[in-house]
Amino acid sequence: MSRALRLGLVLLVVAAVAVTCHGRTERYEQEAEVPQLGRSPFGSLWPLPQKVAVSPAAFKLSSAGFQIVHAERSSAGPGCYLLQSAFRRYFEYMFGYMKKQVMNIQTVLDSEVLELQVWITSADPECDAYPSVTSDESYELTVDHPTAVLKAPKVWGALRGLETFSQLVYEDEYGAKMINKSDIQDFPRFAHRGVLLDSSRHFLPLKVILANLEAMAMNKYNVFHWHIVDDNSFPYQSPNFPDLSQKGSYHPYTHIYTPTDVKMVIEFARMRGIRVVSEFDTPGHTQSWGKGQMGLLTSCYAGQNPTGTFGPINPILNSTYNFMAKFFKEISQVFPDAYIHLGGDEVDFSCWKSNPDIQAFMEQQGFGKDYSKLESYYIQKLLDIVSATSKGYMVWQEVFDNGVKLKADTIIHVWKGNEEQYLKEMASITAAGFHALLSSPWYLNRISYGQDWQQAYKADPYSFDGTDTQKKLVIGGEACLWGEYVDATNLTPRLWPRASAVAERLWSNQNVTDVGDAYTRLVQHRCRMVARGIPAEPLFVGYCDHEYKGL
Ligand SMILES: *[C@@H]1O[C@H](CO)[C@@H](O)[C@H](O)[C@H]1NC(C)=O
Ligand SMILES: *[C@@H]1O[C@H](CO)[C@@H](O)[C@H](O)[C@H]1NC(C)=O
Ligand SMILES: *[C@@H]1O[C@H](CO)[C@@H](O)[C@H](O)[C@H]1NC(C)=O
Repeated sequence: MSRALRLGLVLLVVAAVAVTCHGRTERYEQEAEVPQLGRSPFGSLWPLPQKVAVSPAAFKLSSAGFQIVHAERSSAGPGCYLLQSAFRRYFEYMFGYMKKQVMNIQTVLDSEVLELQVWITSADPECDAYPSVTSDESYELTVDHPTAVLKAPKVWGALRGLETFSQLVYEDEYGAKMINKSDIQDFPRFAHRGVLLDSSRHFLPLKVILANLEAMAMNKYNVFHWHIVDDNSFPYQSPNFPDLSQKGSYHPYTHIYTPTDVKMVIEFARMRGIRVVSEFDTPGHTQSWGKGQMGLLTSCYAGQNPTGTFGPINPILNSTYNFMAKFFKEISQVFPDAYIHLGGDEVDFSCWKSNPDIQAFMEQQGFGKDYSKLESYYIQKLLDIVSATSKGYMVWQEVFDNGVKLKADTIIHVWKGNEEQYLKEMASITAAGFHALLSSPWYLNRISYGQDWQQAYKADPYSFDGTDTQKKLVIGGEACLWGEYVDATNLTPRLWPRASAVAERLWSNQNVTDVGDAYTRLVQHRCRMVARGIPAEPLFVGYCDHEYKGL
């Protein structure tokens, strides 16, 4: 209780809630901590910048008088399409949904911000580049009147700074747009801040993916981890292997991503400073691959007879590796990012164990009865194939746990276990000198009643025991939204603003841990997403000035 009070929280104990459902009454014992809505010295900024000073001096901002321009000394100009469209996008965010309201009410303050000058300070702004794990996302923002200045070495920092500027804008009691004099210096705590979406369990229409890329940019996320195929369907249309989606998708015309669709996602993401890391998970999670690529999966046996069912990728055939070489060469060309996620999780050995050819191969290789050695054999060969395309790779933690030999720059993705277990895993991965990426506390597909964003918010990738050298190997984390119970109808409200909690953990300073202040800012940030057309669900009772209007 004292801890809760110190945090400025109100502890609500709802002893018994009676829920009547079709005549049946269930009783839940519940205890929910609901922070009190207060005022934050940081307004509605989310995620909180590294260094913020907002003063009480408030200036006006009007759609008629205000413009975003390239600073004279900037290395980027009107030819920088990425910035030009970001200027338009943020102008629209700031004034767009206000179109029908009267804008020019004279307030008592006559000072007005007329211009935001965007100044790219380095020689190469990277307008036409793809963002990468080493992209500079830092920026400095000074808001004064009549001119505000946003300085960033690269366009990536300018994008983040534009978001911050737009978050400083608020409405006074007359509905006029205001912004306070402010000084902000900002950069991300972690270089890899991702959201995983799963387009295999359910097909996700392009529109939903693009809307969530928008929402990601509002939260300064910079990686879209596209878990594009899995057991259930293969919606990726491969130019080299068209049968994969022809036979493995839910529908070969309506439930696929054509090469044009994929290009559009990548470019839409790039314009928002977001990398697209594709995941083609093998050797498990591949049932859908088998439909369009005969002989790729292992035949399962009952005694001496094939059962007609299939298991993981068949790791003992040369044809498997010939296919993988051609397939991943294509993937490495379609997806410009320097990394490919190769999966490697949850391989079920029972089918391999049943197959007499595999049994013979195990013997011949001297693997004994240790099928994780066979898995390692496969992954090792796959990693060599992908290395040959000069891409880096990310893998789920099992690959590390099973002792597969990995290139030094491999990123190990931690997804299993409770807090104690995942922290131990983070410690051993980094102790072995590998880069670690955390997702275990951020499986947002798991939902529970109440303010479950707080749990996500409190988790920290650094809370394992380890040296500074080990901590430096943690490149960030990802919020995951697996698709078993998610499609276009519920994806966005399930993800936001819960993923916003993760976004702040990954962007802001490690010491930004005040749940009460976070709640105050997040309620406003959620309303801002709603005003921008994102159906982000509410955190608790209350209202937004501009409610969600539907599609
Ligand atoms: C902005 O300025 C107004 C007017 O002085 C003040 O009431 C408000 O607290 C300021 N906002 C922040 C975040 O400091
Ligand atoms: C598979 O490839 C290996 C190495 O290239 C070769 O030695 C072997 O004969 C091949 N096996 C078959 C069945 O073609
Ligand atoms: C967090 O640390 C930074 C620098 O280390 C400091 O400037 C800031 O005031 C701290 N913030 C809080 C909330 O303690």
